Amino acid sequence: MTDPGAPHDLNVDRTFDGYEPSYQSFDDRPGLSDSAAKWQAVGLGELTGARVLDIGCNEGFFCGAAMGQGATFVVGMDRDDASLTEARRRFPDCTFIEMSWDDEWEGRVPDLGSYDMVFMFSAIHYAANPEQLVERIASALKPGGLLVLECGIADGDADRVLIERTHDQTWHFTRRGISNLLQGFTIEDEHPSVAQETDPVPRFILQARRSTT
Ligand SMILES: C[S@@+](CC[C@H](N)C(=O)[O-])C[C@H]1O[C@@H](n2cnc3c(N)ncnc32)[C@H](O)[C@@H]1O
Repeated sequence: MTDPGAPHDLNVDRTFDGYEPSYQSFDDRPGLSDSAAKWQAVGLGELTGARVLDIGCNEGFFCGAAMGQGATFVVGMDRDDASLTEARRRFPDCTFIEMSWDDEWEGRVPDLGSYDMVFMFSAIHYAANPEQLVERIASALKPGGLLVLECGIADGDADRVLIERTHDQTWHFTRRGISNLLQGFTIEDEHPSVAQETDPVPRFILQARRSTT
């Protein structure tokens, strides 16, 4: 089934791909996703002095990881208050904002236009309006800033494909869909991410650079 382009029902509150409650994993607590392996696959080097915004940050694993590699200002956004309570407990030096990415960013997301990097991992398939979301990401990044996107990429000629799983159905971008979505960015790198047990399509990590103007 191909994407008719209409917003669709996204059952994301505390479901994390259908699993309750822990998605990310930490040294002291397992989760559905092997977060350390994912970070290794993301493969960013030193982030000295970087300003980072993590969209759909969950319990903040990647915010903490970015700070651990030298980032100095890290903001995580998620709409799940319980996840953010845990994120704040684990990573008090990061800033966490509870909001939907569908809400107005102006006045909520600090210092729009100043970020060196935006992370969006395992989340874009939940976006009801991914085009608007990518526009907002571009406006959060400074010129020449980097979007690091981790997502499943489906086969097919349409931009998105509805993938049915046992517990839900989600829209996944195809390669064509990703390149249409990321117009205004230059995709500089694409490589495989770590597979998760319930993945319906292979996951990839893309580094996409915002134009310098
Ligand atoms: C599958 S988890 C991925 C978490 C994390 N990025 C990772 O890779 O470990 C998806 C996250 O996106 C968040 N989320 C889903 N829809 C959202 C929305 N509209 N606005 C903000 N966060 C959202 C969920 O609360 C959840 O924490």
